[in-house]
Amino acid sequence: MTGQRLAGKVALITGATGGLGTATAELFAREGARLVLTDITEGPLHDLAQRIGAGGSEVVAARLDVSSAREWGEVVTLVRDRFATLDVLVNLAGIVDWPGIEDTREADWDRVVDVNQKGTWLGMRAAMPLLRASGNASVVNTSSVLGLVGSGAAAAYQASKGAVRLLSKTAAVEYARQGVRVNSVHPGVIATPMIQELLDEQGDQQPDIQRTPMRRAGRADEIAPAILFLACDDSSFVTGSELVVDGGLTAH
Ligand SMILES: NC(=O)c1ccc[n+]([C@@H]2O[C@H](COP(=O)([O-])OP(=O)(O)OC[C@H]3O[C@@H](n4cnc5c(N)ncnc54)[C@H](O)[C@@H]3O)[C@@H](O)[C@H]2O)c1
Repeated sequence: MTGQRLAGKVALITGATGGLGTATAELFAREGARLVLTDITEGPLHDLAQRIGAGGSEVVAARLDVSSAREWGEVVTLVRDRFATLDVLVNLAGIVDWPGIEDTREADWDRVVDVNQKGTWLGMRAAMPLLRASGNASVVNTSSVLGLVGSGAAAAYQASKGAVRLLSKTAAVEYARQGVRVNSVHPGVIATPMIQELLDEQGDQQPDIQRTPMRRAGRADEIAPAILFLACDDSSFVTGSELVVDGGLTAH
């Protein structure tokens, strides 16, 4: 799937060096976007930006801890100075913590909620003036199947991803008449560094894969096109929606 569906648009991606971030950045570049790639880890970020830039795309890389309001302010200033506009915000940065209710430590709860939930809000808050000024903008927030149904574990992660789902819907309503669409994407089990350890240990016997009707993990390049759809004008009447990409996991 290649075309120029993001031709000329400026897209900011958080968590860009992660599994889903890299696949999304590469697809967006092929679709003609000008990219602002951000992540908390700088080395891999600059390698990614260099690789995508070598393909002819306009790319800027900037360190961004999404849980820091100050760093969001700095990145938005960078975008304004460099591009004067922002058309697409993809909030992909995320961390996971697996314990359930009683075993979750308070510090881990705070860290997960700070990155996944507060980071998504901070990003929309910081970027919204530029997105509104674009007049035709899209925000894609990353929830999960674990933002839709309970798993009996990952208490902090589930709470944060459930919050991202509703935060996206209320933002969609708030900005619907200001030229900014907001949607959430809900991946199932996807083979990325986030869950690589589980997949290495358990392979296809991993219980969530066993519960997935397609009986396999998804690939990052199967999520990126869903993010592209929500980011580009193909979804011009889609806002406040949740796009589930899970091999059928939540269908039963
Ligand atoms: N892989 C899956 O099965 C799966 C399923 C559902 C949802 N998701 C969600 O998709 C998103 C991307 O995950 P992934 O699978 O690519 O994982 P990943 O671990 O490969 O990537 C996550 C990225 O976020 C970055 N990050 C972590 N903390 C950060 C912070 N404070 N500020 C900025 N960046 C930070 C990491 O450096 C990393 O590059 C996450 O929000 C995750 O919760 C993943």
